[in-house]
Amino acid sequence: ELEAAARRVEELVRLVPDFPEPGVLFRDITPLLADGDAFAQVCAALAVQAGGPVDLVAGMEARGFLLAAPIAVHLGAGLIPVRKAGKLPGPLASESYSLEYGDATIELHPSTIPAGARVLVVDDVLATGGTAAATIRLVERCGATVVGLSFLVEIEALAGRAQLAGHAVHALVSVP
Ligand code: PRP
Repeated sequence: ELEAAARRVEELVRLVPDFPEPGVLFRDITPLLADGDAFAQVCAALAVQAGGPVDLVAGMEARGFLLAAPIAVHLGAGLIPVRKAGKLPGPLASESYSLEYGDATIELHPSTIPAGARVLVVDDVLATGGTAAATIRLVERCGATVVGLSFLVEIEALAGRAQLAGHAVHALVSVP
């Protein structure tokens, strides 16, 4: 089942060279989202990878939302939207991380994450791991536990997994 879902990701995630800037190979998930059977199959596979009980699914803006919400429903879990700075009203918890140029900040509502909650983190792509590592810090600051992180695609060359040491990291597809 995981293998079949991985094949759908390979077939339906479109590779776009030099987007949004030269030298970047963008992974466009819109063809996958538009295929109802494949979308359901992939969300089910990501949910299964969690491997144990999940109370909340955290998805990172914006593409992580599109996967985290159906996975949360599939698991009977709640949803935590992890948003870019300035989008959520307070009270907030914020974490910043470095990008190639400058830095980025993500935020969530700690009041929606009870201490001891088991949280699955979901996003489309694991690249440098900065976004996912900041999400782990946010969840752990709430006294909750990250039980796993699930991605459609992991880009091994960017070594994101090294930033997530000690956590169960799953990707349907890993590319060099
Ligand atoms: C992309 C992707 C991940 C993140 C991965 O999001 O959806 O959230 O980058 O990169 P990292 O592992 O190097 O942190 P992006 O910031 O492009 O936002 P979007 O989903 O709103 O397009």
